[in-house]
Amino acid sequence: MDTTQSAQTAAPRGARVGVVRETNPDERRVALVPKIIPALRKQGVEVIVEAGAGLGALIPDEAYTEAGATLGDPYSADVVVKVAPPNDSEVAKLSSGQTLIGFLAPRNADNKIGALRSAGVQAFAVEAIPRISRAQVMDALSSQANVAGYKAVLLAASESTRFFPMLTTAAGTVKPATVLVLGVGVAGLQALATAKRLGGRTTGYDVRPEVADQVRSVGAQWLDLGIDAAGEGGYARELTDEEKAQQQQALEDAIKGFDVVITTALVPGRPAPRLVTAAAVEGMKPGSVIVDLAGETGGNCELTEPGKTVVRHGVTIASPLNLPATMPEHASELYSKNIAALLELMLKDGALAPDFEDQVLADSCVTRERSEPSSQKVEA
Ligand code: NAI
Repeated sequence: MDTTQSAQTAAPRGARVGVVRETNPDERRVALVPKIIPALRKQGVEVIVEAGAGLGALIPDEAYTEAGATLGDPYSADVVVKVAPPNDSEVAKLSSGQTLIGFLAPRNADNKIGALRSAGVQAFAVEAIPRISRAQVMDALSSQANVAGYKAVLLAASESTRFFPMLTTAAGTVKPATVLVLGVGVAGLQALATAKRLGGRTTGYDVRPEVADQVRSVGAQWLDLGIDAAGEGGYARELTDEEKAQQQQALEDAIKGFDVVITTALVPGRPAPRLVTAAAVEGMKPGSVIVDLAGETGGNCELTEPGKTVVRHGVTIASPLNLPATMPEHASELYSKNIAALLELMLKDGALAPDFEDQVLADSCVTRERSEPSSQKVEA
């Protein structure tokens, strides 16, 4: 027996990565799924999983141990990986010199980045990964927005009093639902594709004209309102007051003809653009449905109540928050791939050695380890 080899497989060296059990009861995702662990181990990474970390995604602890992870305290690891932003007690479990990777809500006023900095924790926010080709595999905002776009359509279909597909039956013919998606980034494009698969007649609208071809590529029509607001880094700029008024008026007219409206418009760091006015909702046929994905930043519809489903003027307006957590299995699988790719970029010979000359790491790092680490922990 080759003892050198067996010793190596039994005790991998290199970075230790801890996978936590999310504490928010609505957060069912997990940062790493078992499937991804063998590839990390091959790179010399040791994975420590908190007992029950995968249960929300229906992954038992044994699946992790069978994949080569050990069960233990994830906060004892060099790198802690999470899904949801940490709360105060989670921040308190982190020590100086540790690295944290996850959604950190850097644009939210109540984020914990200041506390992480004070604790000497090096933190990487997946929201800040640049949207460049090389970083696509790490782009967790996109992977999760895909889930949200898909689920938004299923919600719309289940709230709708009408069929999505055209049906020809002995009892008569039903026309296909007309579906308008406002804001065609990642979530919007997936919403268009999903609505099409369900048999809806789809139309997409965005203020970035380059999106028109993508809209057509998923079999949808392009609604052109003549506003060009392409900004930097693949995002839109905020509209001027004049453009906003023009857009709201044009949409008020257009929306009347649709059974379903799904809104996903976002300008980073700004409140959600108000695309659908109360008057536009009033103009829709009773029984129509709006699913507003932008509830977290205030909503794209004037009558949206974030996190709730309400009926106004006979129109159902749903604004679900954290839809990806409602599909924990695949959402976790995609997120794991993002996290593993980001980890890989930080490793050198299995050890953690982030190169801050690399744009992906420089942009996503929201707070760096202090040069003189202290062993103090932040009080909860
Ligand atoms: P994205 O940045 O890829 O797409 C946003 C799109 O909105 C862009 O194409 C942009 O050009 C467009 N846009 C900006 N201003 C506009 C305006 N005035 N009129 C028309 N279009 C406009 O963003 P992504 O990743 O697709 O996310 C979309 C939204 O969904 C965000 O608000 C995000 O926070 C939200 N989201 C919600 C989830 C939930 O569970 N509720 C889960 C994931 C994302």
